[in-house]
Amino acid sequence: MKGIVFTEFIEMVEQKFGYEMVDELLTETDLPSGGAYTSIGTYSHHEIVSLVVGLSQKTNLPLPSLLYTFGQHLFQTFEKGYGQFFEGVPNAFTFLESIERYIHVEVKKLYPDAELPRFQTKRLDENSLEMIYQSERSMGDLAHGLIASSLEHFNEKAEIYRESLAEGGKIERFVITRI
Ligand code: HEM
Repeated sequence: MKGIVFTEFIEMVEQKFGYEMVDELLTETDLPSGGAYTSIGTYSHHEIVSLVVGLSQKTNLPLPSLLYTFGQHLFQTFEKGYGQFFEGVPNAFTFLESIERYIHVEVKKLYPDAELPRFQTKRLDENSLEMIYQSERSMGDLAHGLIASSLEHFNEKAEIYRESLAEGGKIERFVITRI
């Protein structure tokens, strides 16, 4: 998993819980890499899981809600750092549809070792978009937070329905309905 995911996670923990929490988390979690993350490095995705689980234990906040919040934080980073993916995009559905066929394709060109999920999208009707998330890394909660922030970015109000289509969160179906 790319270093940017780790450095942004550490930044979110610092912003929301303070530097002491970052310090405790990095010293008390078993991190094979040693925990000195740089945005250009690549680390095992197991380490991000260990960090989020550790944060959940320390804060008593549920793991899914921490991942969702992290998705929202990551979205802000993408907004600032990857403005080109938003240029000329008229609405949230078009943006969400562009992840699989454009954004993550470009990400993979920039970082060939990036581990990205797959998204299948389908318009169910004028106001509903189906997105099927698929990844060995089971980060549907992160995707959920990113989807919610995408809607906010375009000032669109919508309901996000979600269901699991496979064990262990490897396939998650979202239906996003504009209201
Ligand atoms: C400008 C927009 C975006 C950029 C630049 C971007 C880029 C990235 C990057 C760099 C990673 C890390 C890959 C790795 O660590 O190896 C990633 C992972 C991921 N992205 Fe995106 N992304 C964008 C938008 C989105 C949106 C809107 C969603 C949700 C619908 C999304 C869903 C995910 C998920 C869930 C992962 C975690 C990996 C996994 O689940 O397998 N991304 N993305």
